[in-house]
Order: sequence, then structure tokens, then C-alpha cells
Amino acid sequence: MLFKQQALLRQKLFVLGSLAIGSLLYLVARVGSLDRLQPLCPIDGRFGPRSQDEMQLRALQFKRGLLHEFRKGNATKEQIRLHNLVQQLPKAIIIGVRKGGTRALLEMLNLHPAVVKASQEIHFFDNDENYAKGIEWYRKKMPFSYPHQITIEKSPAYFITEEVPERIYKMNSSIKLLIIVREPTTRAISDYTQVLEGKERKNKTYYKFEKLAIDPNTCEVNTKYKAVRTSIYTKHLERWLKYFPVEQFHIVDGDRLITEPLPELQLVEKFLNLPPRISQYNLYFNATRGFYCLRFNIVFNKCLAGSKGRIHPEVDTSVITKLRKFFHPFNQKFYQITGRTFNWP
Ligand code: A3P
Repeated sequence: MLFKQQALLRQKLFVLGSLAIGSLLYLVARVGSLDRLQPLCPIDGRFGPRSQDEMQLRALQFKRGLLHEFRKGNATKEQIRLHNLVQQLPKAIIIGVRKGGTRALLEMLNLHPAVVKASQEIHFFDNDENYAKGIEWYRKKMPFSYPHQITIEKSPAYFITEEVPERIYKMNSSIKLLIIVREPTTRAISDYTQVLEGKERKNKTYYKFEKLAIDPNTCEVNTKYKAVRTSIYTKHLERWLKYFPVEQFHIVDGDRLITEPLPELQLVEKFLNLPPRISQYNLYFNATRGFYCLRFNIVFNKCLAGSKGRIHPEVDTSVITKLRKFFHPFNQKFYQITGRTFNWP
């Protein structure tokens, strides 16, 4: 009898304990979302000695929360109207480079309360069909934001597509342009790995990287191979420089963004004239993924999709050496033009 009562008591305690933990977790999550949704008092500024900067940041954080809720379907169209949310053309674009770490850069910048990302690659400027739909079509593809926020989109194909610089210039000649680069040979192999994976998914066979990167007739680097051409950064950049001064570009070190993202993000914050808000708290290393992941708050964090950070196939060292030698003079020119030097071999 006594044993039965004790068991019952233990059961009750267990249920109560679970309820308490559950409620606590709920409260923590709720406080996080309430904090984001707390409306800004319109007369707040008349009282406390808050700085303009702090006020603006609070407003931005609130706006960010609302947008987040809206994307989850929790904010109504009425709220969007009430809070004057708008779909703004981007003030900055990550124009490339494909496989440089463009997704990681966009997602990490999106940690900043003043930044709103366009989640999808829009391909407005590089796709003639989309471009023909006009700038309003492009604007409507942008996420809702507050006027103080900046919208950022990324479409890595922009960097290498002939028509894009002129088209972007026509939209906004003072737009800020971000280019994230990686050591060119590694980038080319990463590019190849992505295509290879696509082929394998369709049960198709594909050439080895060595066969594509080296011309079998001349034994020289095959400059017709797209993955090689994309890595000749200076060639593409020179086309852009016919429209935009070099000061309008910021070069991000994609290799460093993998190993040490914060300093790279801080440089971007500076370039975009944003107050420094991304901190080490927002970035944590996930040993299983082998990459840094993103922490928005105590309950919400995420890593990039598994398609980011693929294992590259092994490539013949003589081919790697040949490619590195080939890229070397182009890299030197790239450093000279951009003023950013890398330790690429
Ligand atoms: P690999 O798959 O070759 O490793 P993009 O987004 O432009 O396609 O670039 C993909 C690359 O982003 C990946 O290339 C990966 O190395 C890099 N990357 C940088 N930071 C990352 C992160 N935090 N998580 C996953 N991948 C990241």
C-alpha cells in the first residue's frame, strides 16, 4: 500500500516537474518573441535620455521581429499597413562569387537588426525574361521591411553575366556591391562538386574534374571551362569597374568567413555604414557540421543546409599546381585593383 502511494507520488511529481519545465521553456520562447513584438512607444523619445542610435536600433529590432512573425504567417496585412512596412529595392547586393560563401554571408548579415534578406536568389539582372518584367516586379520580390532597414539580395550569377553591371547601374548607381571570394582553385573544385552532385542525383555520369579543367590537346588549363573562368576574378571585376568605382565594392574573404566569420562580418558592417551589432554570441561553431552556425537568440539557431560544405573529390596534385600557377597573375591583379591581398598560393 505504502509502496503504491509512493509510486503515485513519484508519478505526480514527475508530471508536475515536466509541466514546470515545459512552462519555463514556453515562457523563455514567449519572452523572446514578445520582446521582438513589443511596440515602440511613440512618445518614448520625449522621456528617457535614450540616444538616437539606441532608439533607432530598438525600432529596427522591433521591426525585425514583426517581419519574422509575418514570414511565419503571424503578422497580418493590417499590421504591415499599420507599421508602414514596405518592399524596398536592395541597398546592397551580394553579386558573387558562386561557391564563395554567398549564402553564409547573406544569412550572417541577416543577423543584423537593420538588415533584411531576400531569401531566394532573384536572378533579375542576369535573366532576360525576368529583367523584361521591369523594376516593379523586382521590388515586389523583396521582403517587407521598414524604411530604416536595408534589403540585401544575393544572386552569384550577377558577377559573371555580361549585361548585369549596366542594368544594376541603371537601377541605382550608388548601390553597394559585395563580392565574396575564395582561393580560386578551391572555388573551381567546389563549383565542379556542385555540378557533379546534380548529375549524380539524376543518375548521370560526369567527367572527372581533371578532364574538364585541363585541355587534353594542349595540356594547358582549359579556359573554356566555366568553373575555371569564374575563378578569374579580375576579368569579371574589370567589367564592373566600367560602371562603378572601386570604392563601391567590398571584397569578403570567403575562406576566412568559414574559419573566423566575425571579423569579416564586422568589416561588412562598416562598409554598409551599419552600427556593429553582430557579435560572437550570434555565431557558434558546430563540430558536427564543421562550420559556424547562427544563433539569433536563446531559442532560435540554425546551421546552413547540408548542400553547403560538401566534401570535395580528390584532385590530382599536378592539376592543382597547374591551376594555381595559372590563376597567380590574375590574383595579383585582383589584389592590386581591390587593395585586398590574400595568401593564395
Ligand atoms: P563547399 O560546399 O565547397 O564547402 P555558396 O553559398 O556561394 O554556394 O558557397 C558555398 C560555400 O560556403 C561552401 O562551399 C562552404 O565552404 C562555404 N561556407 C562558408 N561558411 C559556411 C557556413 N557557415 N556553413 C556552411 N558553408 C559555409
